[in-house]
Amino acid sequence: MKKVEIHPEAVERVKKFTITDNNLGFGKYVAPVMIQAIYDDGQWQRFDLLPYGPLLLDPCTKVLHYGQEIFEGMKTFRQPNDQIKMFRPEQNARRFNQSARRMSMPEIPEEQFLNACDVISAYCKNLVPRRLGESLYLRPFMIATEVGLGIKPSKQFLFVIIASPSGNYFAGDSVKVWIERDDIRASQGGIGFAKTGGNYAASLQSYTRSLQAGCDQTMWLDSSHKYIEEMSGMNFMCVINGEIHTPALSDTILDGITRKSVLELAKHEKIKVVEDKIAVDDLLKKIENGECTEAFVCGTASIICPISSFLDKDGRTHHVKDGSGKISMLLRDKLIAIQAGKTDGPEGWMHPVKEIHF
Ligand SMILES: Cc1ncc(COP(=O)(O)O)c(C=O)c1O
Repeated sequence: MKKVEIHPEAVERVKKFTITDNNLGFGKYVAPVMIQAIYDDGQWQRFDLLPYGPLLLDPCTKVLHYGQEIFEGMKTFRQPNDQIKMFRPEQNARRFNQSARRMSMPEIPEEQFLNACDVISAYCKNLVPRRLGESLYLRPFMIATEVGLGIKPSKQFLFVIIASPSGNYFAGDSVKVWIERDDIRASQGGIGFAKTGGNYAASLQSYTRSLQAGCDQTMWLDSSHKYIEEMSGMNFMCVINGEIHTPALSDTILDGITRKSVLELAKHEKIKVVEDKIAVDDLLKKIENGECTEAFVCGTASIICPISSFLDKDGRTHHVKDGSGKISMLLRDKLIAIQAGKTDGPEGWMHPVKEIHF
């Protein structure tokens, strides 16, 4: 494994950095340091902790034209004894490499990925917020840096991790969801399961549409326009006759770490979990007849957030019976308590970050 080289200026910057704002928001602040690693000649050459700053790219750099890019989103939490811990980072490392393979990019050995996350978290220890639900959000990403306009996989890459002290994405409010009946986010054999920029760029037209309709989020259907897949940055779940239902994973859906964790917590609470196809029109009928009592979104940024209503293209609004979410809030509280170190979660979920004295 390559050691991360620590640049003294990065240390000076992080020592001086403070935030006094009580409302951190999401992505409003970034730490003054970043990890940067260079891939060339078929291998990862070096890893550095540098002062945060702009990336200088030639206008012919491949990522700018062909979108060869992947990223991750993960969180570091402050524990009651002031230690800091990451939530299931090995899952992000695994998914990062899964995305890398699909996008013809080099993998990063899991140990190296985790070490880079550990180092930036450790140097940013003072920036890990204290209040419940807050965290240091880490955004690892990789871009194709070879210069040239030929459409072929790059041979050079840059891996970067930036960190953002963050509050809650939705702060526990319920969300209104726009059912996207026209655009499609992903199709079979495509890149829907990879965490790559193109999936998010493809979602933005619908984001604007959903805001114009007074909603907060788009809900994507599969390419047959029939079955629910996920949201633009979260997975989807609902409660039908007391059981949690969620779309089964496929190559068109991101394998969410919060989704996986919520399903495990639900099983632990003896709540039955069903992973299967969910036809959107069936769901709307079940909302109308009261069989579906709750619907919610889940993801790293939003944690768990109840859905109050669905707005359809025909202008009809379908209000969910328990729009404040009894089961979803129970699971949300459990997950937040585990992440904050207030209760023990399943073995291995919280990864301790080794302290570095500087
Ligand atoms: C498209 C998409 N689906 C689902 C999720 C939820 O995944 P996770 O729980 O790993 O954050 C995310 C966020 O990362 C996402 O971008």
